[in-house]
Amino acid sequence: MFLGFDFGTSSVKALLADGEQRVLAAAAEPLDVSRPRPGWSEQDPEAWWRAMLAAVDALRAARPRELAAVRGIGLSGQMHGAVLLDRSGAVLRPCLLWNDTRAAAECRELEDAFPALHDVAGNLAMPGFTAPKLLWVRRHEPDVFARTAHVLLPKAWVRYRLTGEMVEDVSDASGTLWLDVGRRDWSDGLLEATGLTRDAMPRLVEGSAPSGTLRPELAERWGMAHPPILAGGAGDNAAGAVGLGAIRAGDAFVSLGTSGVLWATTDRHMPWPRGAVHSFCHALPRTWHQMGVTLSAAASLAWWSGVSGRPEAELLAELPSPRAASPALFLPYLSGERTPHNDGAVRGAFAGLSLDTDRAALTQAVLEGVAFSLRDCLDALAASGTAVREAAVIGGGSRSRLWVEIIAAALGIPLHRLAAGELGGAFGAARLARLAATGETAEGVCTPPARAETVEPDPVLAEAYASHLPRYRALYRALSPLETAP
Ligand code: XUL
Repeated sequence: MFLGFDFGTSSVKALLADGEQRVLAAAAEPLDVSRPRPGWSEQDPEAWWRAMLAAVDALRAARPRELAAVRGIGLSGQMHGAVLLDRSGAVLRPCLLWNDTRAAAECRELEDAFPALHDVAGNLAMPGFTAPKLLWVRRHEPDVFARTAHVLLPKAWVRYRLTGEMVEDVSDASGTLWLDVGRRDWSDGLLEATGLTRDAMPRLVEGSAPSGTLRPELAERWGMAHPPILAGGAGDNAAGAVGLGAIRAGDAFVSLGTSGVLWATTDRHMPWPRGAVHSFCHALPRTWHQMGVTLSAAASLAWWSGVSGRPEAELLAELPSPRAASPALFLPYLSGERTPHNDGAVRGAFAGLSLDTDRAALTQAVLEGVAFSLRDCLDALAASGTAVREAAVIGGGSRSRLWVEIIAAALGIPLHRLAAGELGGAFGAARLARLAATGETAEGVCTPPARAETVEPDPVLAEAYASHLPRYRALYRALSPLETAP
């Protein structure tokens, strides 16, 4: 029996998988994000802990005997967040999340302080990443910075509470900007550029390696006679990849979560900072990946649902299967954008509105805007030498067939929908737990799940989108100079 957690932005998910990789029970507990100022995005780590305990209680109520038999626990987590701890391990301030864009000036500062950053970290300094956040704290909250003894990513903090040990896996550590991604080790130079040393960092392990043992009091609370071991786990996208069996070079998927990701597994570190491509370690040894990341994917639809006062399902039901592009355009840059712009200041927009524009046309424009942002990711990966020719699609947004049709047409590639898509991160975490507990090979365990269907790009729609794409790109160029960092 294996337990997988996914510490997402909008919920904590927990899942129990048996030796046949069947999902026996799953539970999700919602989370809130606090936005104290424009561009800021924070969560209280205690909220993750409470949500995790509630999710396990739900699993225990459903499957007490199976929970008691858990041998391994795996963690998947939202990436890049900065949890700052003092010497005693107490949390100093709310976690600055991955979609917090306050640290734009600090990115430039970091690139100036450490000119080899692109070579060593293999990535651009982007405001969502962890290192620029620490520079922001150093400047704006010097007392907090002075008391910071440890910096942990969200799931490493949860692991610390679960096991008492500060450990992180290399896939998640890649998003800090303190990792030498090619060598899979912390970079002293990058740490020094932020006023930190290795002492502030957790110990590194591979995602499929053991990272600690569950505290006896928690094992007892959950009815477990033998405290299970915890695997290193993975950043949420790498965990999704493990769940999908995307472990060989060329395997690709689109994730439609709060953020949107186009992922491609690689067999070497392939940095492409000029296109704001993320080049990170995978959760399995000697494997890496590239990602294009769009910050507001399902978040754009959720925003539009809130603004229009209609539930997402109702908005989607108003749309017929599109045969032409919406006359309206939407830029999904509600929290700025990563790939390909690395622009934390830009904001979203509707354009091309007329007296005929109705709600359905705007909903379609929102779905298409996210699809165009993923197209930008596809083209950025292609420029780096990675051609994505087909991809699986996971995440909450993939439940909408319509949205998947739109994305397939905008990308011009077939997309494979999976029945268990929404459980990606937690399922991948359960697989990593199994690898750590049993020592089995990744090839044997990380097989691709059955496909529900393949959505081919509709040629008429694909052509319509190809002619709309230049308008979408021109709109960004026109808008970006209008915005200044808040
Ligand atoms: C990846 C990224 C997001 C978060 C979302 O770089 O920032 O996908 O991990 O949880």
